[in-house]
Amino acid sequence: MSTNKKIMVTAALPYANGPIHIGHLAGCYLPSDIYVRYLRMRGRDVKFVCGSDEHGVPITIKAKNEGITPQEVVNRYNKMMQSAFEEFGISFDHYSRTSSEQHHKNAKEFFMNLYQKGALEAQDTEQYYDPEAGQFLADRYITGTCPKCGHDEAYGDQCENCGTSLSPTELINPKSALSGAKPELRNTTNWFLPLDKLSADLRTFLESRENWKPNVLGQCMSWLNSGDGLKPRAMTRDLNWGVPVPIEGAKGKVMYVWFDAPIGYISATQELLPNDWEAYWKGDDAEIVHFIGKDNIVFHCIIFPAMLQQHGEYALPKQVPANEFLNLEGRKLSTSKNWAVWLHEYLEDFPGQQDVLRYVLTATMPETKDNDFTWADFQQRNNSELVAGFGNFVNRVMVLTHKYYDGVVQNPGILTDADREALTSISQYGRRIAKSLEEYKFREAIGEAMNLARLGNKYLQEQEPWKVYKQDAERAGAILYVATQITAALSIVFKPFLPGTSAKLHSMLAIKSSPNWEETEKEIIIAAGTQLGKSELLFAKIEDAQVEQQRAKLESTIQEKQEEDLENQKHNPQKENISFDQFMEIDLRVGTILEAERVPKADRLLKFTVDTGLDKRTIVSGIAQQFTPEEMIGKQVMVLMNLPPRKIRGVISQGMLLMAEDTDGKLRLMTPEDGAESGSVIG
Ligand code: MF3
Ligand code: ZN
Repeated sequence: MSTNKKIMVTAALPYANGPIHIGHLAGCYLPSDIYVRYLRMRGRDVKFVCGSDEHGVPITIKAKNEGITPQEVVNRYNKMMQSAFEEFGISFDHYSRTSSEQHHKNAKEFFMNLYQKGALEAQDTEQYYDPEAGQFLADRYITGTCPKCGHDEAYGDQCENCGTSLSPTELINPKSALSGAKPELRNTTNWFLPLDKLSADLRTFLESRENWKPNVLGQCMSWLNSGDGLKPRAMTRDLNWGVPVPIEGAKGKVMYVWFDAPIGYISATQELLPNDWEAYWKGDDAEIVHFIGKDNIVFHCIIFPAMLQQHGEYALPKQVPANEFLNLEGRKLSTSKNWAVWLHEYLEDFPGQQDVLRYVLTATMPETKDNDFTWADFQQRNNSELVAGFGNFVNRVMVLTHKYYDGVVQNPGILTDADREALTSISQYGRRIAKSLEEYKFREAIGEAMNLARLGNKYLQEQEPWKVYKQDAERAGAILYVATQITAALSIVFKPFLPGTSAKLHSMLAIKSSPNWEETEKEIIIAAGTQLGKSELLFAKIEDAQVEQQRAKLESTIQEKQEEDLENQKHNPQKENISFDQFMEIDLRVGTILEAERVPKADRLLKFTVDTGLDKRTIVSGIAQQFTPEEMIGKQVMVLMNLPPRKIRGVISQGMLLMAEDTDGKLRLMTPEDGAESGSVIG
């Protein structure tokens, strides 16, 4: 395959605010590494870059919570991630970071380029400002009541309870997470990328892509085709952590993290190849492939391409093979909930067993749908597929060749049909695996590689060299010769997936310089007369106790969380005393629910008509996840009467129903003993 293509492979820059876990690996780092290792074996001109994404609001929040600077946060995780990747065998040509000088310079140049072309539009908006802290508040720094479900700790960009994406001004009773103060709206200028005007060009770009995964293209098209289409998106923020906006009148503003982060791929390439980086990013030979997880699709397939199109000098991505998500033991992986298998811990708990995790994560890679990692499956795949399958085959070939022939590969003489068939299958598997890899089908590829090991086992099982040797030592030598060629082929086709195992095999087979992929076309890889090296075990059995321990670790995470919740409950301290007069101001009465219905498009809200003795009034309550409207009708409740009316999802609610909330969030309706009259005063 001769080509001048300059292949640029990127893996999403991970946020430097937590360690790497198996979800990150299965999502993009492992597939990109396999792909790049394969291309290198084909002699292709490929560069592989990554680095940490060190901006963004969550990093500033973490710093604030820990009482350190954002720079200290990112320094810690940048190091930690880089060394875990390295130990795991992710073979980046360069691992950079977005706080680097080169990146700041490059991102500013990029911004200026768009700014000077008029590709960014200044727009005044009202943003929340914290008068006590003296700064504008990023969306995540504002909390309040969700207008959709009534959850009272929704963030300015999203309610984590009902999943709705919000803008801060939609929150009811907004509060600054910095000072607790009530934020005020102030005018500020930001610069927007007018995606609405760019959508025709984006559509042309997307429609010209070939062989994109349906999940990726589907997501992009649904953005483009959604009701009101794409909206202008602010590329600057009123924040003090990030790349400063390099234009006048933008003091105290930084670039939106999703503006600067993808430019980080380019900066990393500049650091790697100060003189030759452009060939990988510009011109017809540049072939850019972004490996990401599905939550990054819109940024890599819409926003970044729009930026590149506006800039004009850059090539657009050829492929974005995004993966779906990996779950762990049936639950969503979560850094904040510590529900994860952390790479650095795995490396400690399973020393030297990088390839086992690489194997299992590739064999279960969430390419077309979410997938589940379980320790039982991990153990089972290791013990049956790697140890009893692949490892056992190689071990028998090595041990028998040493036992019968002092480790010398025998001259085969005349080959039988079965021998020739086995040898031909080497090149067939080589081609099949290559095809799957070039189509980004990593599960299929590793499955085929494992099938070649199965074929080897089957061949040995049928030929039984251990029996044949007793009557015909020469024929046994021929059988082992053929089996040795299969072993050598395995060492090649597994190299992108299991580089450590492949290196061990090369030394066992006395293969000196690392073979390229084309060797699999040859059938005869190891010449007769070759003295094989010492046999080593490739894989070790994983015992029940080891996976038990891992499961116990996860179990303790759940328990800690429950204890923490309990603690929080205990520490839900008594509020300050109020005066008797204040108490007397509270108007509580018994009410009876006359009507109940769901509030459309709000999963948690029920709307009631309540007879309070005084009147029949409307009250909206966030309890729809535990109570149906039907079961509420006729119930007697305790009503807080004199709350100011509030508009919730377009409905004016006049009062509140009293509830008790358990530690696990379960609600219980407070209701008087039977037969209280509506309107009875509580107190
Ligand atoms: N930090 C982002 C995440 O983890 C990914 C950034 S990818 C880049 O979701 F393109 F912006 F670099
Ligand atoms: Zn909500």
